[in-house]
Amino acid sequence: MSPLKHVAIIMDGNGRWAKKRGVGTIEGHKKGGETAERIALTAKKMGIKYLTLYTFSAENWRRSPLWIAEFIRELSYYLEHQTDIFMQEHIRARFIGDHSRFPQKLQRLMRELEEKTAYFDDVHVTFAVGYGARQEIAQSMRALAKRVGSEEIKISDINEQLISETLYTHDLPDPDVLIRTSGEMRISNYLLWQAAYAELYFTETLWPDFSPEEFTKIIETCCQRQRCYGQDRQDAANAA
Ligand code: IPE
Ligand code: IPE
Ligand code: MG
Repeated sequence: MSPLKHVAIIMDGNGRWAKKRGVGTIEGHKKGGETAERIALTAKKMGIKYLTLYTFSAENWRRSPLWIAEFIRELSYYLEHQTDIFMQEHIRARFIGDHSRFPQKLQRLMRELEEKTAYFDDVHVTFAVGYGARQEIAQSMRALAKRVGSEEIKISDINEQLISETLYTHDLPDPDVLIRTSGEMRISNYLLWQAAYAELYFTETLWPDFSPEEFTKIIETCCQRQRCYGQDRQDAANAA
């Protein structure tokens, strides 16, 4: 069993995967969806309780209307047809992000899957859809300012914990590991607050090709890294 609680993934490279094979982007999303399912089951087997998957960023709205329409169609199809897997495997599905720009049907599918799986606790898979970390932090600031305005809290009450409690991820532990596929080495506005002490791992593998074996290996590698949290290395080692 892995000692890690929470793994976050930036599932990147679907487009390049499709291009390399001379197939449509939709094919890349389809394969990407299958990979997400395999990795969720692997995480469950490994005892990793929280998996958070970057599915559509707030900035992905900058892509072409055709690309966005295809993505929405594929995600809707996936949610409609994969409910059984979530139910059979006792996977709790969550969705974080600003969903207001998505079609009503997709919003409903997300809500329904959340409701149907709300009592499962084996593994929590959170899909970040329409998610941007800066936007998330801005809404947290607005919520806190409102509470100060109504004198529910004082300015001096605002601390790290209170900020964490007003983020979309308020009931998730911070990620231990943040993996990005496809060779890009950036965070792209993902979990900026939460990943403050996450171990970063970048792999060249395109998301549709990402395998349970590679995932397991990455987790093992990250478990061997010494996490210091600012402490002296020796003190951190003694505390571990
Ligand atoms: C990641 O794949 C999935 C989403 C952004 C939704 P991309 O579509 O970014 O794939 P590349 O980076 O173009 O290969
Ligand atoms: C990040 O990938 C978002 C998701 C994987 C959903 P992008 O492909 O959108 O990131 P950039 O644009 O290369 O930074
Ligand atoms: Mg990309």
